[in-house]
Amino acid sequence: MSLYGVLAPLLRFIDPERAHGLTLRILRGGLVPGQRGGDDPILATRVWGRDFTNPIGLAAGFDKNAEVIDPMLRLGFGFVEVGSVTPRPQPGNPRPRIFRLPADRAIINRLGFNNEGAAVASVRLENWRAMGHAGLVGVNLGKNRDSTDAAADYAQGAARLGALADYLVINVSSPNTPGLRALQGRRELEAIIVEVRDALRTALPDWQPPLILKIAPDLTQPDKVDIAAVATDLELDGLIVSNTTIARPPELAGRHREEKGGLSGRPLLAPATAVLMDMYSLTGGRLPIIGVGGVSSGRDAYAKIRAGAALVQLYSALVYHGPGLVAEIKKDLAACLRADGFASVGDAVGADHR
Ligand SMILES: Cc1cc2nc3c(=O)[nH]c(=O)nc-3n(C[C@H](O)[C@H](O)[C@H](O)COP(=O)(O)O)c2cc1C
Repeated sequence: MSLYGVLAPLLRFIDPERAHGLTLRILRGGLVPGQRGGDDPILATRVWGRDFTNPIGLAAGFDKNAEVIDPMLRLGFGFVEVGSVTPRPQPGNPRPRIFRLPADRAIINRLGFNNEGAAVASVRLENWRAMGHAGLVGVNLGKNRDSTDAAADYAQGAARLGALADYLVINVSSPNTPGLRALQGRRELEAIIVEVRDALRTALPDWQPPLILKIAPDLTQPDKVDIAAVATDLELDGLIVSNTTIARPPELAGRHREEKGGLSGRPLLAPATAVLMDMYSLTGGRLPIIGVGGVSSGRDAYAKIRAGAALVQLYSALVYHGPGLVAEIKKDLAACLRADGFASVGDAVGADHR
């Protein structure tokens, strides 16, 4: 077993942010269990003209500064999303700002986009690409807390990082930057998407990465209808459903349940999958959706796919299950697909709508 594999169960007993820092150091040090053999062919899928050997990705927030792309791919993830990256570096909110709720298999965070900024991320991504590494990497863009022009921030991030990304995410759904989620309104969204597209066309006249929007789970029905309309009218390439929730389900038992911030992990599974169902219906199944929120098993990933997810991501479950989880999820997902007679992931996408 690798050092990460051995230490993962122990990391839960130290402060969550320090545990994460230590995990990143272990991963950077190359002490990672490499997946043996290739992925089961039933897990192969094609989205945005790109071939994924499996549909299970690492969600944004784990590798905010593009430091551990390769180790996470080697762990068996089919793709890695780095960020959120803001144009300028910023420290985020005061600590403590990550809380574990072990009884609920959940996490609350109010990090507030702590990150080293777009310049540092772009150098790391360039170096990674220059080393000839294969693997699919999305880049998740945020805005600086003190910026008064959100659209300009996303456009700047897109221009700087677009060439290095297999897909770009406009993240307007983190609960920890004041006013950010208000950008999910129709007019605000349209303005951002138009400005980002313009910036991408100017910076990259020949090729632009797929542009994807990451939304919150705490949306009203009219919000969802508006977002679906914008996504369709402005020809967004996909959606990520969803970010963390500001809701606090009454069954939460962890002593930190009243902490401010976004809740992720198991309690988010059902609500995020419900929003995914809605968004798939509202967009007529035409847009690839990345389903994220509370996935901790092959069965959960399969439920997201049947609800309409072309790809799936996770973060919080890694904290409770450690690095062996990725292989386990893939094995169980393949078994779920076979048990129901599907020949591929693509065949099962949206099956619950048929
Ligand atoms: C500690 C932490 C930091 C996160 N940071 C980001 C972020 O920077 N940008 C983002 O779009 N989502 C961020 N997320 C949200 C995750 O990408 C994901 O949408 C959410 O946690 C739900 O998935 P999960 O239940 O598998 O964790 C973060 C989540 C956690 C737990």
